[in-house]
Amino acid sequence: MIRNLFISAQIALYLLLSTVSLAAEKAIIDSSARFHPVISDRGMVVSQEMLASQVGADILARGGNAVDAAVATGFALAVTLPRAGNLGGGGFMLVHLAKENKTLAIDYREMAPASASRDMFLDAEGDVDNSKARFSIQSSGVPGTVAGLLHALERYGTMTPKQVLEPAIALASKGFPVSLDLSSSLMARHKTLHKNAASKKYFYKADGAGYQFGETLVQEDLAATLGRISKAGRSGFYKGKTAQLIVAEMQRSGGLIRDSDLANYQVVERVPVCGGYRGNSVCAMPPPSSGGVHMIQMLNILEGWDLAAVGHNSAAYIHRLVESMRRAYADRSSYLGDPDYFPVPVAELTDKKYAAELRQQIDLHKASRSEDIRPGLDSTSGANESTETTHFSTWDKWGNVVSNTYTLNFSYGSGISVSGAGFLLNNEMDDFSAKPGSPNGYGLVGGVANAIEPGKRPLSSMTPSIVFDAAGAPILATGSPGGSTIITIVMQMVLNVIDFDMNVAEATAASRIHHQWLPDTVFYEAGISVDTLQRLRDMGHQLNDKTSRLGATNTIQVDPSGKMFYGTADYRRDGSGVAVPAVAD
Ligand code: DON
Repeated sequence: MIRNLFISAQIALYLLLSTVSLAAEKAIIDSSARFHPVISDRGMVVSQEMLASQVGADILARGGNAVDAAVATGFALAVTLPRAGNLGGGGFMLVHLAKENKTLAIDYREMAPASASRDMFLDAEGDVDNSKARFSIQSSGVPGTVAGLLHALERYGTMTPKQVLEPAIALASKGFPVSLDLSSSLMARHKTLHKNAASKKYFYKADGAGYQFGETLVQEDLAATLGRISKAGRSGFYKGKTAQLIVAEMQRSGGLIRDSDLANYQVVERVPVCGGYRGNSVCAMPPPSSGGVHMIQMLNILEGWDLAAVGHNSAAYIHRLVESMRRAYADRSSYLGDPDYFPVPVAELTDKKYAAELRQQIDLHKASRSEDIRPGLDSTSGANESTETTHFSTWDKWGNVVSNTYTLNFSYGSGISVSGAGFLLNNEMDDFSAKPGSPNGYGLVGGVANAIEPGKRPLSSMTPSIVFDAAGAPILATGSPGGSTIITIVMQMVLNVIDFDMNVAEATAASRIHHQWLPDTVFYEAGISVDTLQRLRDMGHQLNDKTSRLGATNTIQVDPSGKMFYGTADYRRDGSGVAVPAVAD
């Protein structure tokens, strides 16, 4: 009898353990298949949060196109991934339209309010007040997300705002199970979010405690705001009750955004910046993002070497990458800003002749010093700042593609929510150069090109990208969060696929490196061998003293027929997922 009980207990334990491991296995398959992409022939959505990916895939299953799916995913992420998904921020969307064979860039970056001014973040001594630039109500630019998503839907989608907003409204009003990622990111931002009564109310329980994994988060005020957008479109956010709530919040706490700033917010359609790379064409976001220009500039430099022969992540390879990055980021600090306010020399920076000159300066055996490339002030902060933006890619069976990156800037933005409206405000004003030579939250420096001016858009690094093969067919959609590191991360995805023929899962998993001119430091992920690191030191490179995790790419690749889709959600952050449309009955 005792023996039988013992055996039953063992079987029960075995069953319990096998359930746990099955659940774990399922979670891994759901969140990201390492080295094996998820495969589909019906289109795909890859985002940082599985429920939101599923929302997009359901839209595809109902006959929506990639733009419908992207807009639905974007609104859903505003509910399920509040640290980066947003209504109160801004971003960039690259759209490829198969029928028209056209690729366009939608700029819905935040704009500085009309009363913003160049020195608004300087203290009495003329130094940058970082807490004002990053965590005050004045750190918010006029949000662009709602206008941008609706612009894309209206011009290039096939569904109504009501249809694409319905899933987000349901997630906010009925609630959804809190993921480990949401629970732990709220824990990490506890102090900042508790300083603002509305954020505390929206993201914590009545007693101030955090939500645990699996508990339900309901966001009633957010559901009501989404409902107003669903009914009235753009006016549901930039006018009427939502606008009143935003302006009331601003007036209560010394913010600058007024009715006229909201009413005047403008989405701008721009021509993507594209460059040839080993017979392919790489298209990405033009200014006010620095992403496309500098990714193409770096690829132009690198194209002069046979990287495949040098070997992936060898010291010789990393050296070439670092030296290219150093030069591109030095240029970024001087020449990049909002093109509507500053004449950004895009053609010159992406000229292959200019790249050849830069390549010639590079000693293949010795690291250069950033201070010799261009005199710059020392920067102490770098790529280690908490980095929260989010990228998603959608692709439909007709060959339309969306590559979208949007953000509140820091994790949970400024930490300030609009009371009564249920969403967080961005702290994107810190992406301006508050003072020439003073590093922003990502250690990036700038000058007059990126100085604060009313109505101007702060310079960004966000790099939503689409790569085309020699025949002009789209083969890859990718992008990443990571602040200043975004451009180099996205470029390494492109190199991994083009030069090293990796599948999208391998390309995602491969260890990444980053350099941004200042600080003069090579950031690197675990997985680069100690021998390689030593060789880099011997060449004179200064390596960061610990590894960093770089970015979170959410990528779709297609095979040359254009019929099979391979998707990988980055395993670097929990909760991400690839979703494919269910087969119609
Ligand atoms: O636009 C930019 O470059 C930054 N505001 C992006 C911030 C970011 O990527 C934070 N995320 N991980």
